[in-house]
Amino acid sequence: MEKPDYSQDYDKLLRSLYRAIIFLSSFAVVLALGLVYYGLLGNPFAAEQSIPVAAKQEAPAARRPGAAADERTEGGVHLATGLRVAEGFEVVRANCTGCHSGKLIAQNRATRDGWQEMIRWMQRTQGLWELGGNEAVILNYLAANYAPEEIGRRASLDLEAIEWYILEE
Ligand code: HEC
Repeated sequence: MEKPDYSQDYDKLLRSLYRAIIFLSSFAVVLALGLVYYGLLGNPFAAEQSIPVAAKQEAPAARRPGAAADERTEGGVHLATGLRVAEGFEVVRANCTGCHSGKLIAQNRATRDGWQEMIRWMQRTQGLWELGGNEAVILNYLAANYAPEEIGRRASLDLEAIEWYILEE
């Protein structure tokens, strides 16, 4: 009786086994390439990719909390507040630029009394605090720098015209 030859079947089996290994390993290669891409370039499907560059830009230095204030001036005007740098500027800046821009102040013109009325109005209706001794400093500054008659330039300080008064203790 002739011995059956199984070598052909064995070769077939081996070949199909190799094919299966190569087929499966191609998946592994694709997966590995994907992981390398993800690791190097980040998630390609993330929404972040479509945010325009402008939206990602940092706020200007003066807006970042803790950053040094922008103290640049131009033509005697403090750029960040829009207020003129003159005697009393720091007091005005400290008391008058918390709720609105200093530019709102610089746009207005009034006499000392007019300015006082505006301050009273803000104190009555807008929660402006009592200014105490600073009020005279603020009014002097406003009357000198934002008086009604001036057009585009600082009014000269008329020391005779200022109503000086003694501050209460
Ligand atoms: C507690 C908040 C607050 C503070 C502090 C404050 N203001 Fe005002 N001020 C307001 C509000 C609110 C308005 C109305 C803003 C608007 O109409 O958009 C206003 C309006 C003004 C206007 C415009 C008035 C008008 O008729 O249009 C001027 C000028 C002004 N403030 C000056 C000052 C000055 C000077 C100081 C410092 C003494 C000061 N503000 C401090 C709240 C404040």
